[in-house]
Amino acid sequence: MASNTLTITDNRTGTQYEVPVTDDTIRAIDLRKIKVQDDDFGMMTYDPAFMNTAACRSQITFIDGDKGILRYRGYPIDQLAEHASFLEVAHLLNEGELPNQQQLDVWKEDIRYHTYVHTNISKFLAGFRYDAHPMGMLLGTVGAMSTFYPDAKDVHDPANRYVQRVRLMAKLPTLAAFCFRHSRGLPFEFPRNDLDYVANFVNMTFSIGGKHEPNPVLQRALEILLILHADHEQNCSTSAVRAVGSSGVDPYSAVSAGIAALYGPLHGGANEAVLRMLDEIGTKANIPAFIEKVKQGEGRLMGFGHRVYKSYDPRAKLIKETADKVFEQTGLNPKLEIALELERIALEDDYFVSRKLYPNVDFYSGLIYKAMGYPTDYFTVLFAIGRLPGWLAQWEEMITDKEQKIARPRQVYTGHAERAYVPMKNR
Ligand code: CMC
Repeated sequence: MASNTLTITDNRTGTQYEVPVTDDTIRAIDLRKIKVQDDDFGMMTYDPAFMNTAACRSQITFIDGDKGILRYRGYPIDQLAEHASFLEVAHLLNEGELPNQQQLDVWKEDIRYHTYVHTNISKFLAGFRYDAHPMGMLLGTVGAMSTFYPDAKDVHDPANRYVQRVRLMAKLPTLAAFCFRHSRGLPFEFPRNDLDYVANFVNMTFSIGGKHEPNPVLQRALEILLILHADHEQNCSTSAVRAVGSSGVDPYSAVSAGIAALYGPLHGGANEAVLRMLDEIGTKANIPAFIEKVKQGEGRLMGFGHRVYKSYDPRAKLIKETADKVFEQTGLNPKLEIALELERIALEDDYFVSRKLYPNVDFYSGLIYKAMGYPTDYFTVLFAIGRLPGWLAQWEEMITDKEQKIARPRQVYTGHAERAYVPMKNR
């Protein structure tokens, strides 16, 4: 009978070790018994960028990168994008199940109740320069929220954690909209609690003089994009939320770390980078030269490639369908033509095919946001609003996981051995 263990022979000593295998995984700590001398520290694994290390057990999101599968709590992403609202999905991620009508009503009402932010927040937003990047403003203001809710420090009380999760869900769109208005020099538009979550956000960004004519197709498209971004298991920003949250800090500080991670061009900032790249390319005629540059290693094709998906990103497929509906309303964007041609060439080119580089979630999302009227540097803020339920669900799971401790990786030290201090005159 096969046993669920792994036998390791250390050829340095000839010693054999047996370590248990659970879920196709061994515990790195089990390797510590592998030593040459008794007083050795013991063996570690070396895994820069966590390419092959599971840092938690999670019940939230399942991805099969080779098959292009993404499921939240077991539900396929395409079914959720077709049928669910963003708040239903947020409930699913955070509470573990799709809500029944009564649970959904309570969840919506709890969030609606907390949409306003302290008026002092508008004062310190006013301190940002007119051209401050909205992600910089957002991560600063979300971090600052912890000073308004010192009760959030009690991260071991489940009821208190629920209140803070609800507050963050309720207030992030308000803060995000305030950042948008600040960039445009427009007065803040306050939350309207007669509107639903997405409509309220859209109203706070676009309303002029208290008036905004909603376009239901565009609002549903935005909602679908938020659903598609809602969680993606242990990506860079979620890992940041978990690692920072593992110190026991309040969730506003942990989420602001997630926003900082998302800001980067290799992560959420890629949607912004795609639009800048399409601008740089300019016309279809310039595409072959651009592709050649990428293949020579001068820059990357932004919106292509993924650490986990090595086939078409299932979200990209759904986003492309959404893009068609949006462009029917708004008219075609000339950049879309460049994007489509870029995709066509890249999917045939051996450089991209052999590296399994396919369009990811960010390739078309920026074009949709642009068509909706959001400026390029605002795209990642929209991603952050979408990703928040995932960050919160993962934070909750981390806090309640008895196996988790403060995140603290090891290192392989490669610096100098001990050496004596050198006086200034001898250097
Ligand atoms: N364009 C050109 N070449 C690429 C690209 C790209 N977009 N992505 C990867 N490669 C090449 C890379 O140069 C390397 O080639 P070689 O083996 O010859 O050195 C090979 O493909 C493997 O790349 P890698 O850097 O080891 O792959 P990774 O898993 O570390 O990177 C990634 C994943 C998403 C950071 C990367 O594909 C990338 O930089 N893409 C562009 C940025 C982007 O669109 N990011 C959004 C990701 S999806 C949303 C999100 O997570 O926020």
